[in-house]
Amino acid sequence: MIRRAGPEDAKTVKELVDHVETHAAYMLAGPGERDHTEEDVRHMLGGPHTNWFLAEEMGTAAGYAVMFTNGMKRKKHVASIVMGVAPAYQRRGWGRALLREVECAARTMGLGKLELTVAVPNKGAYALYEQAGYRIEGTKAASLLIDGSPVDEYMMSRKLEETGAEAVMKQQAVSENTALNTVDSIVRGLEELGVRQGDALLVHSSLSAFGWVNGGAAAVIDALQEAVGPSGTIVMPAQSGDWSDPKNWGAPAVPSAWWEEIRRTMPLYDPEKTPTRGMGTIAELFRTYPGVHRSLHPADSFAAWGKEASWVLETHQPGDSFGETSPLGRLEQLDADILFLGTGYDTATGFHLAEARLSEVETETRGAPMMKDGVRTWVEYEDKAYDSSPFAACGQAYEEAHQVRKVTIGDAACRRFPLKSSVVFAGEWLRKHLE
Ligand SMILES: CC(C)(COP(=O)(O)OP(=O)(O)OC[C@H]1O[C@@H](n2cnc3c(N)ncnc32)[C@H](O)[C@@H]1OP(=O)(O)O)[C@@H](O)C(=O)NCCC(=O)NCCS
Repeated sequence: MIRRAGPEDAKTVKELVDHVETHAAYMLAGPGERDHTEEDVRHMLGGPHTNWFLAEEMGTAAGYAVMFTNGMKRKKHVASIVMGVAPAYQRRGWGRALLREVECAARTMGLGKLELTVAVPNKGAYALYEQAGYRIEGTKAASLLIDGSPVDEYMMSRKLEETGAEAVMKQQAVSENTALNTVDSIVRGLEELGVRQGDALLVHSSLSAFGWVNGGAAAVIDALQEAVGPSGTIVMPAQSGDWSDPKNWGAPAVPSAWWEEIRRTMPLYDPEKTPTRGMGTIAELFRTYPGVHRSLHPADSFAAWGKEASWVLETHQPGDSFGETSPLGRLEQLDADILFLGTGYDTATGFHLAEARLSEVETETRGAPMMKDGVRTWVEYEDKAYDSSPFAACGQAYEEAHQVRKVTIGDAACRRFPLKSSVVFAGEWLRKHLE
């Protein structure tokens, strides 16, 4: 889970920042160098120009990101970012997820640009930022002295009017090191991944991860459709998190004084119109694609195309968002595979089916506007308190224990694995970790 951090988190944030800086080779402050007290951190967390985000895995602080804004008119469109993930939680998707939350908050605040610096030898951080759509603006020569040696830093930025994929496509010149993808090359990659005609696939995707795609998101969807053919079925999550109870919102949270008004005025969910949130450019286009249907769950819908599309979606309802009657239950009956196109296990929606089956996962009250007896009404419903924060770690454990087919398509690291057996694994893993 990623949430905003405030002054009440001072102790946690101080310990986390100290821990990350002790182990990181290329951060501004060296090990133990930052001489801040818990009170300093509390003050900073409450400051007017900082926005802190905390990644928590099973209740433990795993990583943080901070977005610094500037009150000056000439700088009010820009924020700079610093982030760190504790060594034990690295390579589980937290860095990527934190950047997504920062970007979402920045868009909500009307910012136009995010900036950061990264030491040139910090290859892991550079790879993360590059995949998230950040581009090099210049190099600060000998900007750091690390162990007495000069180290250059890249100044990187991301313009926010564009999606990650558009940012790649609109660079003044696309670098030769960027992969060139076409419908055909993606179909070949999918075949190498083991995708066959007639397959049912639950697809999670990141367009910007591919590099440059001739035809953009549409080319990726066309390639998926070609690879499974008319006898196949393609499903993507089409979640619209804004169609939910504002009391549960965290990125951004809204003032509690607004909640009643938001509930009263939230537009009805409309499968044709309601935008997806945080699903990526490909999933957002897919839900509008010819022949694609979308289920009627206001917050956790799925979109589907192909032979079994209607059957996969027809029983989905609030109250069983990710259980037996949801598209996940039906995909399991179809022996579907999960496909990651440039995304990680943090996006493994399928693992929610494991949560739905665990009695240890508690229920919560959720809400959305719905039609009741012909009248628009705010309806509350009970469902599991789903939590995807352990999925990255669970997926890593799954991958250590099972053969997962991996292929790089363009620049995108892609994976395919069976939904049914991975859900069984996730159920056992989650039960153990929920104890
Ligand atoms: C850089 C940092 C924030 C990355 O966080 P993270 O949670 O490990 O990153 P993610 O798991 O989200 O990685 C996303 C992708 O970035 C790339 N990446 C991240 N770390 C990498 C590494 N060490 N080597 C190569 N690629 C890396 C990978 O492509 C990765 O995807 P994959 O795991 O599916 O291959 C983290 O390593 C860190 O905090 N390092 C120390 C502090 C630091 O350097 N902060 C940045 C200062 S500019």
